[in-house]
Amino acid sequence: MSTPDPRDLLGLATRLAHAAGAELLSRQDEVSLESAQTKSSGTDPVSAADRASEQLIVDGLLSARPGDGLLGEEGAREKSTTGLTWVIDPLDGTVNYLYGRPDWCVSIAVQDARGALVGVVHQPTTGITWSAVRGAGASRDGKYLKVHEGRKLAEALVATGFSYLAERRAEQAEYLRHLLPAVRDLRRGGSAALDLCSVADGTADAYYEHVIQPWDVAAGGLIAREAGARTIGGPGTSLPGGLLAAPPDLAETLAGVLSRTRRRVA
Ligand code: IPD
Ligand code: CA
Ligand code: CA
Repeated sequence: MSTPDPRDLLGLATRLAHAAGAELLSRQDEVSLESAQTKSSGTDPVSAADRASEQLIVDGLLSARPGDGLLGEEGAREKSTTGLTWVIDPLDGTVNYLYGRPDWCVSIAVQDARGALVGVVHQPTTGITWSAVRGAGASRDGKYLKVHEGRKLAEALVATGFSYLAERRAEQAEYLRHLLPAVRDLRRGGSAALDLCSVADGTADAYYEHVIQPWDVAAGGLIAREAGARTIGGPGTSLPGGLLAAPPDLAETLAGVLSRTRRRVA
């Protein structure tokens, strides 16, 4: 099968992210923390809106791109026969969504054998859309993005996130204890995909999280890299189950601090 034009994949991902975002906005008054179920722990909610958003995206992909693989947070699983797989977080920032806070988004990426090829992150409450195509740059509402170079760790605003599991959080608190005195400040926004976009557009300098899933970071990671960030994560790195993103010099420094802390935490 011939490789599709990444611009067509970007158009499809953008249309579906916008449609899913509208669906989520329209359901916000119907769902509540009380009606949500929980997943990995009692503080990890999933609502009918998360599922409806994933269903809408999956239906759109099955009809436009039959044969592509699917990996969705709420359970979509299809093997790829085309070499492409869509990685979907239908609602990243569910806790914010259920509390009526604005920092939540739809995240859609498509991957080939080399990793993420196209990524779209759409935040319905502001209408902002970040996107990237591998090798062709990243943009925010059509404006090309370039990360801010040269900021030292002591001047850096660092975004992070925490696991839903209490024992993991105890470990994550140890990292914070060492990092917080060494940086400008920390932010916990509640959406990993938006955190990565904030590195890309300069509304944060760096992001790291120790335990993360592919759907949290597939689109945002590409957007950050295409804006010039370095991402570090996976087996053999200082964040074997997580991800770090920052301009290259800052990424090195931050990874070094996290590695040293890891030796103390372990
Ligand atoms: C979560 C958010 C959060 C991050 C968690 C994720 P969800 O995703 O991205 O910022 O810290 O690790 O699980 O559950 O809202 O899709
Ligand atoms: Ca997520
Ligand atoms: Ca989610």
